[in-house]
Amino acid sequence: MPSSEQRVAIVTGAARGIGAATAVRLAAEGRAVAVLDLDESSCKETVETITAAGGKALAVGADVSDEAQVEAAVARVAQELGAPTILVNNAGVLRDNLLFKMSAADWDTVLGVHLRGAFLMTRAVQKHMVDAKFGRVVNLSSSSALGNRGQANYSAAKAGMQGFTKTLAIELGKFGVTANAVAPGFIATDMTAATAARVGMGFEEFQAAAASQIPVQRVGVPDDVAGAIAFFTSDAAGFVSGQVLYVAGGPLD
Ligand SMILES: NC(=O)c1ccc[n+]([C@@H]2O[C@H](COP(=O)([O-])OP(=O)(O)OC[C@H]3O[C@@H](n4cnc5c(N)ncnc54)[C@H](O)[C@@H]3O)[C@@H](O)[C@H]2O)c1
Repeated sequence: MPSSEQRVAIVTGAARGIGAATAVRLAAEGRAVAVLDLDESSCKETVETITAAGGKALAVGADVSDEAQVEAAVARVAQELGAPTILVNNAGVLRDNLLFKMSAADWDTVLGVHLRGAFLMTRAVQKHMVDAKFGRVVNLSSSSALGNRGQANYSAAKAGMQGFTKTLAIELGKFGVTANAVAPGFIATDMTAATAARVGMGFEEFQAAAASQIPVQRVGVPDDVAGAIAFFTSDAAGFVSGQVLYVAGGPLD
């Protein structure tokens, strides 16, 4: 790649939270960033943050679990920003419930957004990476991959993301493509705020309770995860592939 050429990244679920912080971070590192989320209008704030700092960004509306929308979104990014060679599969939802109360729809929704979404996005983007003989895929797993009460659907999806990541690393390595997973612990976002509300706790109280169980004695913030993702997308990480990095303020395995 000529040094004057800007690499193009797609970050899914980038309207807010970890995805927004990651989009801003990658743009600050010189990437042109497609800020993808369910509604194009919801991406405006992230795009404005990037452009106000002198970066380049495009708002893209798509449901990552919808095959046609994914194909159209990736084609649009290639057309308007250039061939995407960095992909962060971050879009996610929770539908927590104990197994005996979990509906099949709640199972399907969570598996659909996380796993099917990551599969569809990666399949659509990989041809651009293979053509460029360079690619970086980063998938969002979670400490819940190790098992978490009330999250049979989510923990299965997040463990699945790890197997998916390792297989991508094996299949795509010879094309200069690496694939890695970042597995956050507790990160303060709208997602964890919604969990606090669901269990009937104030968000401050919920975070304090979580922090007391974490070795570094604080909960994470989106920038903690964005930094780990940025490393995996860098040129320096070309010999690091198929790994799962827990970003959880302490050891997990
Ligand atoms: N917050 C945490 O503590 C934590 C911990 C571990 C893993 N994660 C993972 O990190 C990722 C981001 O989490 P967050 O806390 O920032 O969540 P969030 O709920 O704040 O943001 C998720 C974003 O994904 C988008 N999204 C949902 N479904 C989508 C779809 N079908 N297509 C496109 N976009 C969609 C939402 O609109 C939202 O903007 C998720 O994959 C989540 O599972 C979060």
